[in-house]
Amino acid sequence: MFEGKNVIITGGSSGLGEELACTLAAKGANLALVARNQDKLRSVLEKIRSSGTRPIRIEIFQSDVCDFDAVEKTGKRIAETIGLPDILINSAGIISENYFEKIPIDTFQKVMGTNFFGTLNWIKAILPYFQKKGEGRIVNICSMAGLMGTFGYSGEVTRFFEILNRYFPSLTRWTSDLIIRQCYKGSGMGST
Ligand SMILES: NC(=O)c1ccc[n+]([C@@H]2O[C@H](COP(=O)([O-])OP(=O)(O)OC[C@H]3O[C@@H](n4cnc5c(N)ncnc54)[C@H](OP(=O)(O)O)[C@@H]3O)[C@@H](O)[C@H]2O)c1
Repeated sequence: MFEGKNVIITGGSSGLGEELACTLAAKGANLALVARNQDKLRSVLEKIRSSGTRPIRIEIFQSDVCDFDAVEKTGKRIAETIGLPDILINSAGIISENYFEKIPIDTFQKVMGTNFFGTLNWIKAILPYFQKKGEGRIVNICSMAGLMGTFGYSGEVTRFFEILNRYFPSLTRWTSDLIIRQCYKGSGMGST
């Protein structure tokens, strides 16, 4: 299913993104891993290359999901190096845990900037390539705390409620030439 597919993973240098990168590499996908810290990206690249999985194309891209111009340029570089993408996985994100009143306002702004706009930026930058290809899949990694109010995770709610409940359905309508399906799969908190 993933053999030969070109997969972009934002947040591919750590946590869920890193685990997905290792799993998809083992299944023969070509990978473009995106994050800000080059050293962490390089260490995942080396881990995958030394894991003995079958040869795949894997490239790392230092880029901030909050910066739309940078995202557009990175998307273009990815299309030129690994080819038109088949799958976009938005895993870059910040988790903020605390009482609502103890979370500084700039933390909410960072969470929205990264988790919401970072996801939106990548969807917007990659859709033209999916349209060119005639198909594509988008996976938005989402905390269950974003779907329901959860004690200690008020920062998460802002993000995922917006993306999944409001934005994604309208995206389906905006892109009439592509079929976009939504699916929800729950996960709890975990150390990755
Ligand atoms: N861990 C869990 O149990 C769990 C459960 C459900 C949902 N989630 C969700 O999954 C997402 C990832 O969680 P995680 O546990 O994998 O976190 P993590 O280990 O901290 O990894 C976050 C990744 O996102 C990247 N990133 C953060 N800000 C970025 C930015 N502005 N631009 C580009 N890359 C950025 C980080 O790399 P750089 O810092 O180098 O940029 C890193 O690769 C979160 O949004 C979280 O809500 C996590």
